[in-house]
This record gives sequence, C-alpha cells and structure tokens, in this order.
Amino acid sequence: MLPISTKGISNAHSSRFSRSFILTLAVGMTFGFSFAYLLLSVVTWEKVDLLGGTSYLISSQSSSSSPSYFMHDDPHSYQEAENLIAPRFPVPGHITEEDDHKRDFTVADELYKSVRVLCWVMTNPKNHESKARHIKATWGKRCNKLLFMSSTNDPRLPTVKLDVEEGRDHLWAKTRSAFQYVYKNHFDEADWFMKADDDTYVVVENLRYFLSTQNSSDPIYFGCKFKPYVNQGYMSGGAGYVLSKVALERFIDKGIDPAVHPKQCKLSDDGAEDVEMGKCLEALNVTAGDSRDKLGRGRFFPFVPSHHLIPGHVDKNFWYWKYIYYESEEGMNCCSDTAISFHYISSDTMYVIEYLLYHLRPYGLYEKAKQKTIQDSTIYKAADLSSPISLPFAVSSSRIPNNKPQAVNTSQAISN
Ligand SMILES: *[C@@H]1O[C@H](CO)[C@@H](O)[C@H](O)[C@H]1NC(C)=O
Ligand SMILES: *[C@@H]1O[C@H](CO)[C@@H](O)[C@H](O)[C@H]1NC(C)=O
Ligand SMILES: *[C@@H]1O[C@H](CO)[C@@H](O)[C@H](O)[C@H]1NC(C)=O
Repeated sequence: MLPISTKGISNAHSSRFSRSFILTLAVGMTFGFSFAYLLLSVVTWEKVDLLGGTSYLISSQSSSSSPSYFMHDDPHSYQEAENLIAPRFPVPGHITEEDDHKRDFTVADELYKSVRVLCWVMTNPKNHESKARHIKATWGKRCNKLLFMSSTNDPRLPTVKLDVEEGRDHLWAKTRSAFQYVYKNHFDEADWFMKADDDTYVVVENLRYFLSTQNSSDPIYFGCKFKPYVNQGYMSGGAGYVLSKVALERFIDKGIDPAVHPKQCKLSDDGAEDVEMGKCLEALNVTAGDSRDKLGRGRFFPFVPSHHLIPGHVDKNFWYWKYIYYESEEGMNCCSDTAISFHYISSDTMYVIEYLLYHLRPYGLYEKAKQKTIQDSTIYKAADLSSPISLPFAVSSSRIPNNKPQAVNTSQAISN
C-alpha cells in the first residue's frame, strides 16, 4: 500500500513539477522569442526583409502553378481578374476644359445620332459596386443605351434582373436571356447591340466610327475573332462583340426559339458563352465580320493594352497566338489608332484611360475646329476598308504617313 501510495505521491509531485516546468519553459520561450524578434526587427531591418522575402517566395511559388508564359502580372484569365483594384467611389469627371485645349465634338455627336449603339454589360451582384458602377461613370455613359445584366435588382445602377443562375457555368444562358430582354424591350432604340464584360473598356466613338462603315441590315457581328471550334471563327467574349440589328433579330427569332432553333444553338445553360454564340450565329448564317483597320490592325482586344503593345509580354506558346484569327503584330503596330475595346481592365484603370483619351493631349497636335463642316454622314461611309484611310476627324499631318492620301480636310474637327 505504502510503496504504492508513496510512489503515487512522488508521481503526483513529479508530474506537478514537470507541468510547471513545461509552463515556465513555454512562457520563457515565447517571451524570449518575441523579445529577440522585436529586437532584431528594430536593430536589423534585413531580418524583417528576410521574413517578407519568405512570404514572397511562398506566394510566387503558389502562383507558379499557372503556366510560366507571363512576364507581367496583368490578368490573363477570369480567376486572375477576380481581385482587380477598384476605387471606393465613382470618380467624378472633370468637365471644365482648358480654353487652349478645347475640342470639337461635332463629328462624334453626328455619329451618336446616325449609328445608335445599345451596350449591355454582363455583371453579377458581387461586381455591381466594384466594377459595374465604374463603367457607368466612364465609357458606359457614351452608349445610346446602357444596360447592366445581373441576377438581382440594384436600383443604383440600375440592373436588369434576369431569371438566371450566376456563375461561369451559366453564362451562356445569361447571354441568351440578356439578348432576349434587349430584343423585347429596346430593339427599336438602336442599330447595333454590343455585349461587354464588366472589365471591358470600350471606346464607344471608335465603335460608332467603325460601324458607320457597315450596314446594320446585314446579318453580321464583330469582335476579336478567334479561330478554333467554329468554322468561320467566333468572337472572344471578354473583348466584347457587337451584333447588327438583323443578327440580333435572327438570333432571337430563329436561334433560341425552341420550336425552330438549329442544333448548333444550344438551349442548355452550360458551355463557353462566346463559343456557343459563335456556333449558333454561324448556323444562322450570321457572318463573323472582319473589323481590322486599313493597315490590318485589330480593333477589339481580349487583354490589357500592354499585353499587345509590349513585344514578348507573353510567351509564344500562350494560347492566344494559336487562337487569334488574323495574324497580329506585337508592339505599337498591334492595334488600330481607332481601337475599340480592351479586356481585364481594372476599375482604377478605367479612369486612367478616361483621362488619357478624353482629357490629356499634347498641345498643338490637334487643331481646334472653327466651324461645323460635316453636312451629312456620307463622309464616314467613304471610310471603308478598301479606300484610303479617311478618319472622320482631322488629324495633324504628322500622324498620317506621307505616302497616304489625306481624305479629310484638316480644318475639320478632332473629336473624342
Ligand atoms: C443596307 O442593306 C439593306 C439590305 O440589304 C439595303 O436595302 C440597304 O440599301 C443597305 N443600306 C446601305 C446604306 O447600303
Ligand atoms: C443558311 O444558309 C444555308 C445555305 O445557304 C441554308 O441552307 C440555311 O437554310 C440557312 N439557314 C438559315 C437559318 O437561314
Ligand atoms: C477646308 O475646309 C475649310 C473650312 O470649311 C475651307 O475654308 C478650306 O478651303 C478647305 N480646304 C480644302 C483644301 O478643301
């Protein structure tokens, strides 16, 4: 009994001893470590950097699971675009123009009336505040009609509440539903119908200018054309695409009517929105149009400008080079001077582009219009792809190559 109890006491004693010993040790180590860490942080910044460096290493390792095509960190996929930077509030425009820098809007105003564009933006409840409202504050306001397609009601934008599920698996259903809504409610208000994402930037004046050379009674649509999946090619969803009036009518009346739709026009939710659209429109004999400029440079772009402008920005094995329908150059020759759209544009960058396009300009390069010189719209029609470059606005002669005939009287307006 005793030995047992003695043993029990000594056991209890030693376990009490070891518990307080461990506690002391733990507290000591914690304080000691914290103190040493603080001391080192203060005394040698290098140690802190080292720790920062460690976390950088970890994060760069985790992102290296995506292919190493990229020399830069701008988004090249929807996942990467999730956390684009956005201002907390819409940034008010600066409306007062400096006198010496005044522009003439005559040509753009004429086009606004003669080439009516309805824009609808694919958005979702998560993005109303971070993305959609910045489109409304920037390029969206230049469309003749602007609609935000979502699955919830938001009077602040406002949104159109479509009866669809959210998520990438339902984008095709949402697109059909959106065009159906547009056809039913706004068909008479426009000649052209543009779909854009909530991170697409559209230069609406250039869209109108290009479309002024086209006939909205033709069954045709335009965008950034990709090669695979569809014989005539299909238009990238992110760069946005624009349907003629007749193309939209055909899509609704023949494409998605369950009674008559061809099998290429899928009526289920799933599938890549842009590819399904491409297959369906091809089956409806809607032409996938060519929107390049006279010099063969594209106008709709599926990435940020630097992707296209900087040679070597992405690896030659990146899917884009296999997808792009028309051969496209890297560098300043990538893109038309009348480019229409870019994709993966953060809301912050939307305002930067606004400023660069609509406010900042080098003094003296563009002439101030003296008077209204455009009598009718025929001058725009002359600017088709087979005739010499004739911008519907004046451009300083230094901007036009010497060997190109200048179709436009330079005392006419530059406009935005
Ligand atoms: C546009 O196309 C329609 C139908 O093909 C034709 O009747 C009309 O004259 C065309 N408009 C112009 C301006 O070419
Ligand atoms: C498309 O054109 C083909 C060949 O001309 C024709 O057979 C088909 O009926 C047309 N489809 C539609 C929907 O107009
Ligand atoms: C250009 O337009 C201006 C103003 O309308 C006019 O005075 C001038 O003669 C025109 N020049 C040419 C070369 O047509």
